[in-house]
Formats: sequence, C-alpha cells, structure tokens
Amino acid sequence: MSLSELDGAALAAKETAAEAQYRELCGRNLILDMTRGKPAPDQLDLSNGLLTAVTPDDHLGEDDEDYRNYGMGTGIPEAKRLFADFLDVAPDEIVIGGNSSLNLMYDFIAGAVLHGVPGSDRPWGQETPPKFICPVPGYDRHFLVCEKLGFEMVTVDMQDDGPDMDAVEALVADDPAVKAIWCVPKYSNPTGAVYADTVIDRLAAMTTAAPDFRIIWDNAYAEHHLGNGPAKLKNILEACRAAGHPDRPVLFGSTSKISYAGAGVAVLGGSKANISDIADKMAVANIGHDKLNQLRHTRFYGDLDGIRDHMNKHAALIGPKFAAVDEALNRHLAGKGIATWTKPEGGYFVSVDVLDGCAAEIVRLAGEAGVKLTPAGATFPKGEDPRDRNIRLAPTFPALDEVQLSMEVFCACVELVCVRKLRSAGT
Ligand SMILES: Cc1ncc(COP(=O)(O)O)c(C=O)c1O
Repeated sequence: MSLSELDGAALAAKETAAEAQYRELCGRNLILDMTRGKPAPDQLDLSNGLLTAVTPDDHLGEDDEDYRNYGMGTGIPEAKRLFADFLDVAPDEIVIGGNSSLNLMYDFIAGAVLHGVPGSDRPWGQETPPKFICPVPGYDRHFLVCEKLGFEMVTVDMQDDGPDMDAVEALVADDPAVKAIWCVPKYSNPTGAVYADTVIDRLAAMTTAAPDFRIIWDNAYAEHHLGNGPAKLKNILEACRAAGHPDRPVLFGSTSKISYAGAGVAVLGGSKANISDIADKMAVANIGHDKLNQLRHTRFYGDLDGIRDHMNKHAALIGPKFAAVDEALNRHLAGKGIATWTKPEGGYFVSVDVLDGCAAEIVRLAGEAGVKLTPAGATFPKGEDPRDRNIRLAPTFPALDEVQLSMEVFCACVELVCVRKLRSAGT
C-alpha cells in the first residue's frame, strides 16, 4: 500500500519503526562506500595478462616498428583496427588517445571553444555564451567540463529510450549558440537507458540553427552488459551520414572499465573531416600517446570477440551486485509510493528517484550510518537537482555482502526520510 494513503496514526507508527531500524543499523558502525563507479579488484585481476603482454624481448609492433619511440600520433594500426570495430567505425575514422576518454572529450570541446570545428563560422567561445544540451540525470563530469569551459547548460529530461527529443529539437532549431549535446547512448550514466533507433534517427536528422552542431557520443559502456549480452545500438555515424550530417557526431569510448580504470586506452571516432581536424589539434599538444599500452591491449584482447568474452567475465562478477540492489529495493520499497528506480541491463549505475525534497537528507543519513553515497544533486549541472530527488547508486566496487548491507541502510534511510516528509506534509 502506498504510504501516502496511510492515516496520521499509521504514519506515526511507521516513523517510529523506521527510526528504530535506522538506529539499529547505525549501531553496527559500518564503513561502506557506494559513491563512484569503479571496477572492483577482482575485475581488475581479469586483465592482469596485460602486465606481461609486452616484454623487453617482444615490444615491436607489426612491420617491426619500435613502439618505444615517438611516432604514429593517431595510434598504432593494430589498435586502430581493434577499436574501429569496438566503436563501429572504419579504421580511418578513429584516433587512439591516451588513458582517458574524458580527457579526449575535454580537449575536443576546449578546441571547439578556442578554434571552432569543421563547419564553424567562428570559435564556439565567441557565442555569449555557447550552450550545451545536458540530458538529466546525467554524468557529473560532463557537466563540470561544460561549467569550466563557459557553457550555459540547458537540461532536457532523460527518458527510458534517450533524451526527450521534442525538447532537444525545439532547442536546436532556432538558436545557433546551442552547439552540442551530451549523449551516453548505451547503459546511460546513471539511468542505464539505451537509446532507441527512433531517437538516434531524430538526433541525426534534426535541423540545427548552428551549422557546427555536435553530438558528443560518449559510448563509455558499449560492451558493459550485466549478463544478457550487449544491447544493440544503431550506428550514429551512419545515421548522420544518411541524414546528410556526416560531421555531426563525435564518438568516444575507452577500456577504463574493460582493462584498467585510468590505465586503459581511450578512443575517438568520427567523419574524416572531424578526424583530420582533431588529429591536427592533438598534434600540437602531444607527439604521440602511449603506443606500448595500445600494443599490450591489442595483444591481450585480440579482437572484438576477445573483448566480448572478457566482458562476459566482468558481467559474472558484477551482475550479482546489481541483482542484490534490485532485490533490496523491491523487498523494502516496492509499492510504497516513495521511490522508483531503474533496472539496468548494463553499465555501472542504478538511478533512484525518491519523493521530492528527500534525496539530500537520505544521503546525509546514510553517511551518518556509515554508507557513503554519491552526493545528491551530482547527476545535475552544478550539483543542483531542482527536485532534490535523484540518487545514483554505484554497486560495482564494494564486495557483494557490502552491497547488500549498504542497501539495507539505503532503503532504511529512504523509508525514514520519506515517511517524515509525508507526515510533515499531512500536518
Ligand atoms: C559516461 C562516462 N564517460 C566517461 C567516463 C570516464 O571514462 P575515462 O576513464 O575513459 O575517462 C565515465 C566514468 O565513469 C563515464 O561514466
């Protein structure tokens, strides 16, 4: 029964019970952390073969190139072939970067602010201000990039099949200062949504007032399923090409959650015009990324099937943690009318919406009970959730029993704070 249907006395009894439950959990002196989407140590162990994939006797690439030296600024050919398959682009539509796709995205956007991109009349930074469409809830570091580079962030709602396209089309139609949109198209951070073909077609075909509009296609979780295999995603580059906008999308990805977080390989894909512009800009700041890291990744995974086999092993490790989150949410909160949540098929997060005005207090109480959660508001620009209702759960890093315990605390906090809210609304 929805808690909002209870009378005052029944709600008061609920609050007393919820407080007792919370106090009992506080008494356990827990120290648990569900804040960031990091791989757990057993996931990292899966890639330990990387550490011996390049040796003093065996460090040459194909054609006997010495990858210990400068050269090949846009990446070694072995890596271009592997990651072109990974991004679903051609080997001449890709640049291999360093260890971080966020770094590639930041540099791409900073370059656009300073110099523009193919199709620009002038640098994006000359708009007053340039505007970025931010589907919410979304990824906090995307928003930070926008904030630091001087963009006005215009939010649109993230739906089950991608961003609210009516809102996106209306925003881009008349205002040439609207330069770009963030998209995490598969297993979105934090909702886990996968973009539908119809959404991708509309993104590709929409009329934009800006001649140099870009879709920042951050496919960070391309192969990161939780047990049922990777979801299908329509090819954005082909869709845009077919719609007559070949330069519109810029694709990003990395092996941060395939091999090592922070020591993987990041990649960027796009039209030849974009690739050539990006490679020129990159060459100013970097004589070449770490080719030995590229080589060991290509040796260790071999091909896309190798990556997929590997990601099945990740799924076997983290699938049960996501199942534990879902089980606890259902057991404690289903039918109470105080929270809704996502059940992702991949990615690193579960997104929970609670009653308006409750998220920050839930995160605070959980912290006092020893369970650190991502700060409320982190999934919105400038850390401000206008309804104070969204909380991102990140269950990959803690061990399974820690996830289970954390969820007991989390659900107890949701119940306590929401019951208090309903009681205060009733008085
Ligand atoms: C959507 C998204 N993009 C990018 C990143 C960071 O990727 P990288 O480690 O390649 O910089 C993350 C990490 O959490 C992410 O969730």
